[in-house]
Amino acid sequence: MPVELNYEPHVVPPRRVPFRPSPIQEEILELKRQRNAVILAHNYQVEAIQDVADFVGDSLGLSYQAQAAQAEVILFCGVHFMAETAKIVNPGRVVLLPDLHAGCSLADSCPASRLAAYKAAHPHLYVVAYINCSAEVKALSDVICTSGNAVQIVNRVPADREILFVPDQNLGQWVAQRTGRPLQLWPGSCYAHVQFTIQAIERVRLRFPDAPLVAHPECVQSVRDLADEVCSTELMVKFAKSHPAREIIVATESGMLHRLRREVPDKTFVAAPTDSCACNDCRFMKMNTIEKVRDALKSGSPAIAVPEATRAAALIPLQRMLDWSRR
Ligand code: 13P
Ligand code: SF4
Repeated sequence: MPVELNYEPHVVPPRRVPFRPSPIQEEILELKRQRNAVILAHNYQVEAIQDVADFVGDSLGLSYQAQAAQAEVILFCGVHFMAETAKIVNPGRVVLLPDLHAGCSLADSCPASRLAAYKAAHPHLYVVAYINCSAEVKALSDVICTSGNAVQIVNRVPADREILFVPDQNLGQWVAQRTGRPLQLWPGSCYAHVQFTIQAIERVRLRFPDAPLVAHPECVQSVRDLADEVCSTELMVKFAKSHPAREIIVATESGMLHRLRREVPDKTFVAAPTDSCACNDCRFMKMNTIEKVRDALKSGSPAIAVPEATRAAALIPLQRMLDWSRR
């Protein structure tokens, strides 16, 4: 029985208790007050960043938080498409990203020019774009989705429309299986999640034979098929809270382990290994460091800019997603 997502009301997860900020974290909290900033952090950020954030969550929760933000500055600790999304939904704020080079292999796999050419050759297609894409790709799409609401969104697309799902073929394949709707899949993938293999999962299962496996839908099908639950990073927290197991194997980026340990401190979380590594880091997510967070608040840069015509066009499918996801 899949776990369900309910975004309202938002719950800001508690900090580690007792939370004793380091000198640089103290400096960040003070700068945050001075600059009237809010810090939004994705679940894959390092522990030191998650602990100074006002909200830690998945792409969907962060999009809602970004849209509702009243502070003058949104310091977005995640990757570029996430900060760009914040700017699209809340253009009146200054949106900072600690490292402007923090990209995403999925976003890179779908250049807007290629999608535009494909659409021109197949004008009947309804484009559902995973939020892991550029503002230009969003502007070419009919609706956006995240891993947390992809099934729900695809189910809302008029039944007579043929769907092109971009850019993650693994998430798209999972959604097609869950909804029963045939989807044309763009050949993109997350370089980090495709590193999980059956062999590596079986190895860790020998050590933790009773632990259920929770996997992100960006994993390949052979790994998803081994999982007890396939879901977004936010739903992993819900799964961990509700499952009776004391030990849980987690097949996603390693930062997730901190969020899980912070919110479900009485359970043991085991990072699923890859064939070459004990856990799995996204090199883009890890470009943000606590020092870069401090420097961004101090200097007010790097700031995200999106040309107004692109922003206005990208907002339409994003807003459609936010509206379709509300209960
Ligand atoms: P979530 O929205 O599930 O947190 O996923 C974002 C992401 O980039 C996964 O790799
Ligand atoms: Fe992109 Fe994969 Fe990193 Fe997520 S984990 S930001 S999908 S490269």
